[in-house]
Amino acid sequence: MEINYDLIDTTGPAPEKEPLRQQYYILKCREILREKEKKLGRKLTFFDQTFGCQMNFKDSEKLNGILEEIGYVKAESEAADFVYYNTCTVRENANVRVYGRLGTLKTFKKKNPEMIIAMCGCMMQEPEEEEKVRKTFKFVDIVFGTHNIFKLAELLYECLSSKQRVFDVWEKTDQIIEDLPSDRKFGFKAGVNIMFGCNNFCSYCIVPYVRGRERSRKPEDIVAEVEKLAKEGVVEIMLLGQNVNSYGKTLDQPVSFAQLLTMVEKVEGIERIRFMTSHPKDLSDELIKVMAGSTKICRHLHLPVQSGSSRILKKMNRKYTKEQYLSLVEKLRDSVPDIAITTDIIVGFPGETEEDFQETLDVVRKAQYDSAFTFIYSKRSGTKAAEMPDQIPDEVVHERFDRLLKVVNEVATEQNKKLEGRVETVLAEEIDEKDSSMITGRLSNNSVVHFKADPSVIGKIVPVKLEEAKGFYYLGRMCENG
Ligand code: 5AD
Ligand code: SF4
Repeated sequence: MEINYDLIDTTGPAPEKEPLRQQYYILKCREILREKEKKLGRKLTFFDQTFGCQMNFKDSEKLNGILEEIGYVKAESEAADFVYYNTCTVRENANVRVYGRLGTLKTFKKKNPEMIIAMCGCMMQEPEEEEKVRKTFKFVDIVFGTHNIFKLAELLYECLSSKQRVFDVWEKTDQIIEDLPSDRKFGFKAGVNIMFGCNNFCSYCIVPYVRGRERSRKPEDIVAEVEKLAKEGVVEIMLLGQNVNSYGKTLDQPVSFAQLLTMVEKVEGIERIRFMTSHPKDLSDELIKVMAGSTKICRHLHLPVQSGSSRILKKMNRKYTKEQYLSLVEKLRDSVPDIAITTDIIVGFPGETEEDFQETLDVVRKAQYDSAFTFIYSKRSGTKAAEMPDQIPDEVVHERFDRLLKVVNEVATEQNKKLEGRVETVLAEEIDEKDSSMITGRLSNNSVVHFKADPSVIGKIVPVKLEEAKGFYYLGRMCENG
């Protein structure tokens, strides 16, 4: 996957084929950057501000990889020569936060007139948001969407050479461009896209509109990337997709997600495999069997329930009932010992009654979640739910939200005692933010553990005795042989 730039002739026109075309533009941008470096007597810098989910963070690693290939150096703050915001639009408050911060960039640009500001990500896929940036935020130079992040070098070249604003948002795509650079945040763990987009159309969700239809990467491309990562020292991978359980259905030669996991498991050097996100309607017995028989697949499943009421689930277009969900949880707990199950819950979906809400509390208690992300329903224009009657008043939603949080915390605290006293393997991830003599790591079940150790253990999987459960984390002691 190494790029051989010697084979690219930048004196001629740009090649049509990808990724060659982008490699050509990387070189063209490099030439411009070299000139600027000479003039300024220093390297040029970049900074990214990423909002949203793992997909977006993964996209930013790719964008950063391209910027580094061009010659930009990562800066610690927004006082940089190239700043981009990778946005999220899943809930209204995500948008509000982005515009709030964007204003501050203007002051940086006043001090550094050559600064380039770009906006990308899910929010930019919404025509009204793109328009707002075009009209209201005139200091934004480049705007692109979720489908063409691979084109950053080309867009940047256009902007640098023409000194004009560049807007390029695609409505959809069926392309998957392989073999572009990527800058990973951690040396020992990495996310790997296995699919893009989503076909589910849950009635509250904007994702299918901003990330497009489901497209799976070929298994051989995924395995090749995992092999490369393993060679670079990665021990834990996270397979990423909006709905990993429907992986491979649209490939010319269909492959199931369980089959993909079996292939990825064979890669030497990879010790832990995680994946995200699973839709309950597509979680197969085959997958449960593969998880149960695996020593590498982590004992954790994120299984968003969204609501405990079958009536609301139907309106959400989730395609399962409360009973089906709970029996799936039971099957998982029976088959995969010590599995941690986490979830997403929305409170205040249109038409949600107190009885519906009670069903949600009941599911939290019965499913015994290890943790749950709880969200207040946010109306997203363009979705089916935005048109539904009986939007719930704010004060009712907030009151339910507080009650839900209490039950989630009670259940999670109980669950987090389960492994107390045991010795478990922990991937040491970083120096503890609060106490620099401690290391923070994660168990296979995704629980956080803090333990005393030398920073040299970071990136290694070590045995730790879980001495005390503290609600949402453990305090542990690293074992002698670790
Ligand atoms: N309002 C509130 N929460 C939402 N989510 C998705 N769309 C909305 C919305 N309109 C939540 C779901 C999803 C998570 C990523 O965000 O719980 O699983
Ligand atoms: Fe936000 Fe959804 Fe886009 Fe992720 S895919 S960044 S959650 S809108």
